[in-house]
Amino acid sequence: MEREQAEERIAALSEELERHNHLYYVEAKPVIADRDFDLLMKELEGLEACWPDLASPNSPTQRVGGDLTKEFTTVAHRWPMLSLSNSYSREEVEEFVQRIVKEHGQVTFTMELKYDGVAIGLTYQDGQLLRALTRGDGEKGDDITANVRTVRSIPLRLRGNPPAELEARGEILMGRKEFDKLNSQREDEGEELFANPRNTTAGTLKLQDPKIVAKRGLQNFIYTLQADALPTRSHYGNILQCHAWGFRTPDPSKRFIEQAVTLDGIMAYIAHWDQARHTLDIAIDGVVIKVDNIDLQEELGLRAKSPRWAIAYKFQAEQKFTRLNGVEFNVGRTGAITPVALLEPVELAGTTVKRASIHNADQIAKLDLHIGDMVQVEKGGEIIPKITAVDLDRRAAGAMPVVYPEDCPACGTTLVRDEGEAQHYCPNEHGCPPQITRRMEHFTSRRAMDIGGLGGETVEVLFIAGLARNVADLYDITKEQLLALGKGWGERSAQLVIDGIAASKAVPFERVLFALGIRHVGETVAKKLARAVGSMEKLAAMPPEELTAVNEVGTVIAASIHEFFGVEGNRMTVERLRNAGLQMAMEASASIVAGTKLKGLSFVVSGVFVNFTRDGIKEAIENNGGKVGSSISKKTSYVVAGADMGPAKRVKAEELGVPVISEDELKHLIDG
Ligand code: IVH
Repeated sequence: MEREQAEERIAALSEELERHNHLYYVEAKPVIADRDFDLLMKELEGLEACWPDLASPNSPTQRVGGDLTKEFTTVAHRWPMLSLSNSYSREEVEEFVQRIVKEHGQVTFTMELKYDGVAIGLTYQDGQLLRALTRGDGEKGDDITANVRTVRSIPLRLRGNPPAELEARGEILMGRKEFDKLNSQREDEGEELFANPRNTTAGTLKLQDPKIVAKRGLQNFIYTLQADALPTRSHYGNILQCHAWGFRTPDPSKRFIEQAVTLDGIMAYIAHWDQARHTLDIAIDGVVIKVDNIDLQEELGLRAKSPRWAIAYKFQAEQKFTRLNGVEFNVGRTGAITPVALLEPVELAGTTVKRASIHNADQIAKLDLHIGDMVQVEKGGEIIPKITAVDLDRRAAGAMPVVYPEDCPACGTTLVRDEGEAQHYCPNEHGCPPQITRRMEHFTSRRAMDIGGLGGETVEVLFIAGLARNVADLYDITKEQLLALGKGWGERSAQLVIDGIAASKAVPFERVLFALGIRHVGETVAKKLARAVGSMEKLAAMPPEELTAVNEVGTVIAASIHEFFGVEGNRMTVERLRNAGLQMAMEASASIVAGTKLKGLSFVVSGVFVNFTRDGIKEAIENNGGKVGSSISKKTSYVVAGADMGPAKRVKAEELGVPVISEDELKHLIDG
């Protein structure tokens, strides 16, 4: 293809992809299949790899940047980021409205949802996303642009004719479904669960790796526009304009934004959302009422940190009293004990609540819980309700205090609590039934060995029948043994399990590693380790200091891996799995060892490669102590060039005297 043709095709593909992205993430009305979208994206990626100088930094291929953010820089806000004054009663809202109406006659108010997420300010210059700042102290915020670019409903380029500089402000949020998905993944990985979507969003936006952020499915709504010359003098009008530029804004047809000129209208909006808030996938903690006319906003002015022209009405967190019938102490896959309150069922925030989390022994002591107590349960931002208080006046005489067990409720082993940790653990990893069955359940789960037909209950049946006391036992099970279990087992179900077990032998090494359930080794870490280290044998033999050279492996993970392979039972299990035929090493071309050979060197990677993906080569450099940058400078040690490296980059490297090497030469550097 000629350069000119490529340029045209890149422009056409970019526009097409942006349009579909908008239809999917902003309008929620996709018109093409995901697969077709991916094909268009692949085509664009291919063209940009051939003509890197034609690739715009805001191309649809460039949402997820390659580099890690080491530190977030602080940048001053062009317009201070204010907060809202809160009200908790309808009277306060009434006073706010009446004060304004008394002085200014009929006034139009715009009502919106008060999104319970993380505020963000998005600066666009000449229609291109330039910067994304957190609120910080209101005067200056953290630059989290690389992470925010991965949020699909945030346009990288605006449509139409926006002013040369503008700032769109809104909220970044995580939906409940996405949050639940993430937490169930974390549960699988033996990681501590996130408390609520808001904190998870805040934590996600401060991650160093935009690739992880991109996978968290964050959403965005825009609710304010700042510019020297605003398109209209109506707040509502400006929000509609933002939508036309490509932003996701509150949808009037869903009553996410609405206007009223009377107090009754405002109160009806509050009443509606106080009820309907539980039907939303995203968390809201109130509604916001704003004077719509911007001239009037300016006339009303500001208090120290909040405008006089707006007020937030905050919903009550729903609370109710109910009886505590008992406390259950559950044993997880990693042996962690979690107390769960068993409650007399009660309707709260749109669901029937029967259980509440009590985090640990300290919490039980703090609340001084007794069986039969009337306890107050609250469902705030948290998904799982919590106990916030006890009504001591209603405690029955002779009520028994809740006693935290000293021994494991499942196997009787004395529990341990590590210094500085809030949680108790059962240390009997190889003998405690729920730990074993939950580990097996994790092993067979879809993202690990993916053995269909072997869910939690089935695994427990096999355990109780004595057929599987260890994950390696699964590979010795015969169809006859399954059929002999009788009840519920037929030819078909038995064959399904046998086939599933056989097929799992082809599951790649990185998933085998994840399936072992080593504490802190989740899917991502397993993948990085597998690629960096190459085989189970090498991993088992690696001292913790060497493990930490792998990107994303810190001292806690390294210690956990080292400890795992230090246990003879674990080594035996791994050996039996190897003998059963599971994948214990990466396929040859994909692996490269970790080390420190590239320490102090910085690389720029360009073009397409034979043995690596672009990310794979970057990972190989980072795993060996090198740094990867995006543009060539005097500080660049080497440019690693694949086929079709752009001519502009080659010229620049020559000008600055930076050596250009091939992927084979890079491999030599690493191998020494
Ligand atoms: S307007 C001066 N509108 O609430 C105007 N804020 O308590 C301030 N928030 O920092 C922002 N939904 O993070 C506005 N519809 C909405 C909002 C909203 C949520 C957040 C925002 C702000 C905080 C103030």
